[in-house]
Amino acid sequence: MATGKIYDRAAEDVSNIIAMEHVNITVPDQAIATLFYVNGLGLTRDPYIDFGPSNVWINAGKQQFHLPTKKPQVIRGHIGLVVPDLKALAKRLHSVEKRLTDTRFSFTSAKEFISVTCPWGNKLKCYGSGKRFNMRLGIPYVEFLVPRGTARGIARFYEDLFSCRTTLTKTSCQIAVGRGQSLRFKENEQKLDYDGHHIAIYVSNFSTPHQYLDHHGLITEESDAHQYRFQTIIDPSTGQELFDVEHEVRSLHHPMYGRFLVNRNASQSFVDYQQGLDSFHP
Ligand SMILES: [Fe+2]
Repeated sequence: MATGKIYDRAAEDVSNIIAMEHVNITVPDQAIATLFYVNGLGLTRDPYIDFGPSNVWINAGKQQFHLPTKKPQVIRGHIGLVVPDLKALAKRLHSVEKRLTDTRFSFTSAKEFISVTCPWGNKLKCYGSGKRFNMRLGIPYVEFLVPRGTARGIARFYEDLFSCRTTLTKTSCQIAVGRGQSLRFKENEQKLDYDGHHIAIYVSNFSTPHQYLDHHGLITEESDAHQYRFQTIIDPSTGQELFDVEHEVRSLHHPMYGRFLVNRNASQSFVDYQQGLDSFHP
């Protein structure tokens, strides 16, 4: 039945990348990492997959941070994070400030977000839940700082290999991923060395990008039947290497696809505890 309303049907399209599921950054100290990610940011330690002192998985809505114990890695750019309540976040960050004084931890509040630096220099922009991102808790995007003149080629890479919708400006590109997520690439002057951090994506068509990447010698790991990795983004029209960031590419047959991630209601506390409100549903 015609309603007279015109909808942008393409706005609801999802490309071959169904989701960006985790950001992997190594940390040298699990106790400090837990203080920052759980007590400071209000996120949840994965209660089911536990690596002891060698790694910790932190749930943020339907996404995760993976934090293996090693020399710290730092994302070149920043990570977007949506939290249910910005005021509550500021309060929690204040509460861990003292114990993180000897680290790079800092935070500043702006009108719409709080900029946070983790104890080892990773930058996060934390937004309150609302219309801006289609989530109440989670990682809506990662923004990478890339060399001058690479944004167009990077957009072409995701368009050609993963059929992604991209938005391009003169010096940046945004790659639409799954439901309300994106990968962002912003050109900058600094030369930033790559230290091996990675992101994990789920794709519905697993073999077509693999064929291209394999043909161009870009596969860095054939992990198992459900996963492979690549690191270098090239311009498909010239073959020029543009930017390095490892992608852990998982198929929808991966055993962890669609895994339910436990999230707690970070505003619960001993002093004003409310029965039945322990969990949070992003
Ligand atoms: Fe990973």
